Amino acid sequence: MFQPPPNVAKTIQITFEEQTYQVAPGQTVAAALMGEGHLMLRKSVVSGETRAAFCMMGICFDCLLEIDGQPNQQSCMIQVREGMNIQRQLKKGECA
Ligand code: FES
Repeated sequence: MFQPPPNVAKTIQITFEEQTYQVAPGQTVAAALMGEGHLMLRKSVVSGETRAAFCMMGICFDCLLEIDGQPNQQSCMIQVREGMNIQRQLKKGECA
């Protein structure tokens, strides 16, 4: 199972789906969420099936999330920042 790096203090606070978490700095949003046990990050707009981060290197787009109000963010490519507000993307992300 996915585990956060050992012996790293959890000093960053993020909010995911209205719940706050303390996570270690220097990791991606996808890694932080998986470390907290959240594997389902979005649903397919075609089939409605749940999707989880797969490649962790910006190729598959299965990790798309809404981060700080911006849809279609590749969570495997973005490091956690203090105060991030993250939501699952359950429908097609529309650009503002
Ligand atoms: S996990 Fe594949 S693009 Fe993010």
